[in-house]
Amino acid sequence: MQNTGTNTLLIVDDEKRVVDVLLRTFRDVYDVHGFLSAPEALAAMPDLHAHVILTDEKMPDINGLSFLSKARDIQPGTVNIMLTAYSDQNLAINAINSGLVYRYLIKPWDTDELCLTVRQAFEYHMLLETNRRLTGELTIKNTELEKNLSLLQHTQSRLVQSERLTVVGQLTASIGHELRNPLSRIKTAASLLKSEFGREGGEVQDLLNIVENEVVVSDKIINDLLDFSKDRKSNSAPVHINEIITSSLERTRLSANVSVQTELGKDLPMVLADSGQLQQILVNLILNGSQAMVNGGILKIWSHASGSHISVHISDTGTGIKPSDIPRVFEPLYTTRAKGIGLGMSVVKMLVERNNGTIQIESQLDMGTTVTLTFPISQ
Ligand SMILES: Nc1ncnc2c1ncn2[C@@H]1O[C@H](COP(=O)(O)OP(=O)(O)OP(=O)(O)O)[C@@H](O)[C@H]1O
Ligand SMILES: [Mg+2]
Repeated sequence: MQNTGTNTLLIVDDEKRVVDVLLRTFRDVYDVHGFLSAPEALAAMPDLHAHVILTDEKMPDINGLSFLSKARDIQPGTVNIMLTAYSDQNLAINAINSGLVYRYLIKPWDTDELCLTVRQAFEYHMLLETNRRLTGELTIKNTELEKNLSLLQHTQSRLVQSERLTVVGQLTASIGHELRNPLSRIKTAASLLKSEFGREGGEVQDLLNIVENEVVVSDKIINDLLDFSKDRKSNSAPVHINEIITSSLERTRLSANVSVQTELGKDLPMVLADSGQLQQILVNLILNGSQAMVNGGILKIWSHASGSHISVHISDTGTGIKPSDIPRVFEPLYTTRAKGIGLGMSVVKMLVERNNGTIQIESQLDMGTTVTLTFPISQ
């Protein structure tokens, strides 16, 4: 028989004669190591990469099964053969059932049978190794597959979203343009009427205020629609964010049961952004906040500088948003309002990103919502 050199066999028996015979039997075929006691074998195991262990059952320090169990802790995966001096059916059954022993042979052994058993043990070891390797590869492939699947699902949902955007864009572009001119005429007429009859105050003034307010809301809708229909460029320039906040609040006259509080940072550096687009963002967020407070509440806006950014927070004490619905808020056409279109927040997100900003929503159901915007400071 030829020495394979890579298959390592450990022989453990307290009888020197037995170890010598076994060493002679296998030394030409395998990389064989003989030990006269279990502790000796256990001490050597970390340096030997054993594939098969051939051990005696009865030994003075420790029995064969206990030795194999300790050996497994040092090197799991060896295939083990047990030798015993007498036939004990129960011992054999226990040994096999323990899962530690592959075969059980009785002394004196038949050499051919022993050689065959040891060879089968090495083959079995190879099968186990191959199986382990394939299982490992399968797990890696499975993980890759799962990753690809989720990527595919993500791409598919983005595709559906972009198709939706295209349809919305085509449909709304023409409607938006058609509405723009009549709306601007209504706006001019309202302000002329105000300057004509505004002095009288009272009901006329109130009615004209309503007209102006509704014009702002309609203007917002048209701007949202047009922003969807084409990729408008930003005309970035240094802007005072507090001026934009103030003008946006002036434009959106809120209902009497909503009180507005502002805490605008003093001497804030300017941000680099498109002022029209900033206004559109703020008008959208102010309207959303006030629309979430149907029974009144507090709309608070505060601004401050933090590092290289300016932060603006818009908070309301309205209905709040369910945690699972927060990501949906940015989906085009997602609305929970009877008169809503569901474009506001998707336009806000688009405009914020176009102006190199960030947006974050924190909300608690029945408590309120805070939207935080950041924009880079103009250098
Ligand atoms: N501050 C807020 N408080 C509670 N819910 C909000 C708030 N802001 C947004 N939402 C939720 O997100 C949805 C989408 O908002 P978005 O502004 O995109 O659309 P909309 O306000 O419904 O309609 P519009 O297109 O006219 O703005 C709202 O319908 C509402 O359910
Ligand atoms: Mg809105």
